[in-house]
Amino acid sequence: MIFRQFFEADSSTYTYLLASGFGREAIIIDPVKSQTPTYLQAIRELDLRLVQAIDTHTHADHITALGDLRDSTACVTVMGDRSKAACVSLRVGDGEILHIDGLELQARYTPGHTDESFSFVLNPKLPQAVFTGDVLLIRGSGRTDFQGGDPAESWSSIVENLFLLPDETTVYPAHDYKGWSASSIGEERRHNPRIAGKSKAEYVAIMRGLQLPNPQMMDIAVPANLACGQL
Ligand SMILES: [Fe+2]
Repeated sequence: MIFRQFFEADSSTYTYLLASGFGREAIIIDPVKSQTPTYLQAIRELDLRLVQAIDTHTHADHITALGDLRDSTACVTVMGDRSKAACVSLRVGDGEILHIDGLELQARYTPGHTDESFSFVLNPKLPQAVFTGDVLLIRGSGRTDFQGGDPAESWSSIVENLFLLPDETTVYPAHDYKGWSASSIGEERRHNPRIAGKSKAEYVAIMRGLQLPNPQMMDIAVPANLACGQL
């Protein structure tokens, strides 16, 4: 299997390129517009054919590459069915499985960070990895104070949905700010400081107390991302 993790430093965003082998169909998850040339180079040099570009949710901190990748590769743009982005060509529902040339990706509706966030489980019959967007981060979780975010829903998505995956399932989030590149469900169940040993009410209080500034790019990124990153 081909698995590539790309990092965009301005917004600390991780992007994932997946395929079952060289010369096969590929998908990309949470691509950043400014990095499009890098993705296209990797796709070309690995002899891949990009068939789907997925955003886990409408990002507020960077502009998506969905539109640019669609224009240059004719891939299908994918988001969950709660997305308000009119430009998306395929909307997946909760539990739906995407089949990509030897790979399966199960969509799971995991609101909380936003009201339209989805996670994607790789090969759900024997889960290998889960791409969590911003709902579950490494030793953290995505803020819940805008874009329809809700701390109680965030708890439910993490504890009552993602944490039901096997402990060894690798967790690949859309961001990390401390240099971690991956985690696992078991690690997060045991060591995520906002969740481990906490009640739902305690989690809600933690999230309500964060008082974070809005992302610098929010006013530009959200409208641009509702148009697949076309400015
Ligand atoms: Fe986000």
